[in-house]
Amino acid sequence: MTLQAGERPPQPAPSTRTPLMKLVAATKHFPITRGVILQKRVGTVHAVDSVDLEVYPGETVGLVGETGSGKSTTARLITKLLDVTEGQVIFDGQDITHLSRRKMRPLRRDIQMIFQDPYASLNPRKTVGSIIGEPMRIHKTVPRDGIKKEVQQLMERVGLNPEHYNRYPHEFSGGQRQRVGVARALALRPRLIVADEPVSALDVSVQAQVLNLLEDLQEEFNLTYVFIAHDLSVVKHMSDRVAVMYLGQIVETAPSETLYKDPKHPYTGALLSAVPLPDPRLVLQRRRIILEGDVPSPIDPPSGCRFHPRCPRTIEVAEREGLGRVHPRCRDEEPELRPFLPGQVAACHFPLEERVIPAADGS
Ligand SMILES: Nc1ncnc2c1ncn2[C@@H]1O[C@H](COP(=O)(O)OP(=O)(O)O)[C@@H](O)[C@H]1O
Ligand code: SF4
Ligand SMILES: [Mg+2]
Repeated sequence: MTLQAGERPPQPAPSTRTPLMKLVAATKHFPITRGVILQKRVGTVHAVDSVDLEVYPGETVGLVGETGSGKSTTARLITKLLDVTEGQVIFDGQDITHLSRRKMRPLRRDIQMIFQDPYASLNPRKTVGSIIGEPMRIHKTVPRDGIKKEVQQLMERVGLNPEHYNRYPHEFSGGQRQRVGVARALALRPRLIVADEPVSALDVSVQAQVLNLLEDLQEEFNLTYVFIAHDLSVVKHMSDRVAVMYLGQIVETAPSETLYKDPKHPYTGALLSAVPLPDPRLVLQRRRIILEGDVPSPIDPPSGCRFHPRCPRTIEVAEREGLGRVHPRCRDEEPELRPFLPGQVAACHFPLEERVIPAADGS
C-alpha cells in the first residue's frame, strides 16, 4: 500500500462542528415470520441495536466488525435504503427519519452508496456510459445532450478510458468495474458517500489503487465518507475516526491513532491482533488475541455484554477473582459506552489497560 496514515490535514475538534450525518439510537429489527397466509412472528433479528453515530463534514469514519455485525444494515439506514425500526436519522441538521419519498428525493442526490460487489451492483445489460449517466437522467441534473460529455469527464476522473463509454460491465476488470461504481456514485455530486466494503471483492494488488482514488476524490469533491470494512487494516489508512461494531452495536469509537495504539474494548484488541504489522519486532511485542467461535446469532443475542461468550478479557478477570470463566457482571449487566481518551468511547466493564501494540518509537 502506498497510503500513509496521518497524511490527512488536521480536522477541527468534532464537538465544535455540526455533524453532516447523525444516527440517534438507530435500531433495525427484522421480523422472522412463519406461515404463508397468516404470517406469525416467531422471532426478531436484532441486526442493529441503538446505534449512535456522528459523521462530520470532510471526515472519513471507518465502520468495522466481523461479518454479521450489522455494518451493511447500518449503511442502508444511513442511505435510507432501509427505514429504522426505532431511533432517528439526521442529515445536515434535518430529521429525515420519516421523510416521504417525494421529500426525500432531493436528499437522495446528497447521499450515495458504493457497494461491495461491483459484479452484482452493475446492470450487465447496460453500457457503462448509461449506468454512470442514469442518475443524471433520473434527477435531471444535466441537460440530456450534455450527459455523454459529463459521463466521459467522470470516467476520465476515476481512471477509466472515456472511449469505453459504450462497453458493457463484463468487458472490464474487477477494479475497473468498481471505478464505474465510484463514477456512478459521484454523478450527482453527493456530499456523503457510504462505501460498503468497496475493495473487499478486489485483488489485493488493485485494492490500494481504488483506496487511493477514493482519497483523491474526497479532497477534490469535498466528500464525507463512511467507509465500511471487515478488518482494520483497510480502514486504518482511510479513516479519521473508527467505530467498531459487534452484534448490532457500536462497542468502541475513537480517533484512528488512539484506536490503534490504545484500544479499550477487548473486541477491538482482538480485531487489531489480526492486522498484519509491517515491523516484525512489533509482532513479537504484541499479545495475540484469538477469538474463539463465530459471531453468535443476532436472533437471540447473549445477555449482559454481547461479547461475553467470546471475550478473553472476562476470562482473565473472572479467573483472577476466582469467579469461573465469565465474570458475572459481563453476563448480567450490559455495559454502556463511556469516555476514555479524547474522542474515545468504549462499552466494557473491564477495559484493556495496557497497550496492545506498543509503539515502535516508544511514543
Ligand atoms: N433483510 C434481512 N432480513 C433478515 N435478517 C437480515 C436482513 N438483512 C440482514 N439481516 C441479518 O442482520 C445481521 C446483520 O447483517 P449485516 O448488516 O449484513 O452485517 P454485516 O454487513 O456486518 O455483515 C445478520 O445476522 C444478517 O443475517
Ligand atoms: S464487558 Fe466483559 S465480556 Fe464485555 S468486553 Fe468487557 S470484559 Fe469482555
Ligand atoms: Mg456487509
